[in-house]
Amino acid sequence: MEKTGKYKRILVTSALTYANGDTHLGHIAGSILPADMYVRYCRLAGYDVIYVCGSDEYGTAIEMSAIKEGITPKEIVDKYHEANKLAYEQLGMSFDIYSRTSTDTHKKTAQDFFTNLYDKDLLYEKSEKQLYSEKEQRFLADRFVVGTCPVCGYEVARGDECENCGSTLSPLELKNPRSTITGDTPVVKESTHFYFPLAKYQDELDKWISSKPDWKPNVVNYCKGWFKTGLQDRAITRDLSWGVPLPLEDHEGKVIYVWFEAPIGYISITKELFASKGNEDLWKDYWCSNDTRLVHFLGKDNIIFHAMFFPAMLMAHGGIVLADNVPANEFMNLEGTKQSKSKGHAIYVKDVIGRFNPDSIRYAIASNMPENKDTDFYWSDLQAKNNNELGAILGNFVNRTFVFAEKYFEGRVPPLGELHEIDKNLLESVKSYPSRIASYYENYKFKDAVSESMNLVREANKYFNDTEPWKAVKEDKERCGTIINICLQLCRTFAVIFDPILPFSSEKLLRMLALPDEKLTWQGACDLKLEAGHTLGKPEILFKKIEDTEIEK
Ligand code: MF3
Ligand code: ZN
Repeated sequence: MEKTGKYKRILVTSALTYANGDTHLGHIAGSILPADMYVRYCRLAGYDVIYVCGSDEYGTAIEMSAIKEGITPKEIVDKYHEANKLAYEQLGMSFDIYSRTSTDTHKKTAQDFFTNLYDKDLLYEKSEKQLYSEKEQRFLADRFVVGTCPVCGYEVARGDECENCGSTLSPLELKNPRSTITGDTPVVKESTHFYFPLAKYQDELDKWISSKPDWKPNVVNYCKGWFKTGLQDRAITRDLSWGVPLPLEDHEGKVIYVWFEAPIGYISITKELFASKGNEDLWKDYWCSNDTRLVHFLGKDNIIFHAMFFPAMLMAHGGIVLADNVPANEFMNLEGTKQSKSKGHAIYVKDVIGRFNPDSIRYAIASNMPENKDTDFYWSDLQAKNNNELGAILGNFVNRTFVFAEKYFEGRVPPLGELHEIDKNLLESVKSYPSRIASYYENYKFKDAVSESMNLVREANKYFNDTEPWKAVKEDKERCGTIINICLQLCRTFAVIFDPILPFSSEKLLRMLALPDEKLTWQGACDLKLEAGHTLGKPEILFKKIEDTEIEK
């Protein structure tokens, strides 16, 4: 449609989830749900689209959790990879593949990438001071050290980042550094590492980002801020045992830095997807072509990696498509404070999935998505959205319509008679929604897409009220039949329009309409496809009311 003209296919990624804990609603709001909605829309609109995601399994975050839980990193990632994969499935996330970075395909892909840059002499090796724990006999990389943040004075800032002020740090900048595990005070020792010359790519990155007028201002401003400070070269190796080993001899005990290797996971996971379909080379159609629209979904803490570091790596490598857009979200906080796995302040998917309708959770998040500023998740909001919008507007319309069809038309679609002015006006107005909502999706305006979708249902409800089928059924049954025919056709329209937001309800609606195998298309959303006499399925409740007692828990 409109903007996608120059592209033949779309490749969508969500930031790979660290497999060291359960996924929470912060992840869903930041990088997973917007991507899923976008992809579901794209599929209906007929685009050639694939959606790849998976677990991020290396890095000190994982090793750290393993040490804390007293198990191996491998045990940690196996556990959380499966758990998160399941959680996403239960929330209806429609990845084409959800894989992981501990695979052989990923190891080889990341190593080949490193070798490509190494062979071109783009990387340089430098000996530098590092923190080393004598007690543990290991270098303390990234999250293995905590200390006082030099920027804000926060006393338990991590070696890679201060969670309090958001500054990117290196372990040596911390004041009063200690080992996260043992509390041991480290000594300074030399170690040799490879560097990626990020500074050299600043101009090219700046030009590239300046050529993207459609990027979100929060993302562009963030990048411009970095350009002002000046990009710095980054060490891309670490002294750790858990990770992708360097593809070089004489470098034992060193692995590729997780932020260099993880985004390459998008490529290796795509390779896996097509290999599993028996087409080893098809991944190249997506990654090695400028006809591909590559879109990375992520939270704002990942902007630097997706808008600068990874693109610079790709520029250095050559022959791989760069992102068309990086529609990063801000954070969704929990009743006022940031959701954080490490602090245990979060709503985990596994804890809500059995209690609430997954579509209600999706809807509550989507309608309050932190697109341009941080937002807050409130339990009371989930209840209000479920009861007052999903139940009272969408559920109510569908329910009223099916009750009439059951009661007065033997559960069949009544014939569409002569159309009155009010019918024509409604049908005309309904037809204008899909392209408007499409344009919201194509421009990553998810909140607008949600509210416009609900406006459509509001219009349908108004139509139901204004045409008064309860009167018509007594005075002119044929007229009532026409109204109910239209309302049933609208239910089918909703199954299409709400599929990106409420996939489970959309499926339910199709079952109720007895159209389970219907191939839905966005363009055909408003077609009057239901034939007179078609027997409907059993009515089901779409949204159960959430009681106060359930929210109090
Ligand atoms: N695991 C990282 C996080 O949760 C995101 C990794 S994105 C990737 O912050 F591109 F590196 F894969
Ligand atoms: Zn700080």
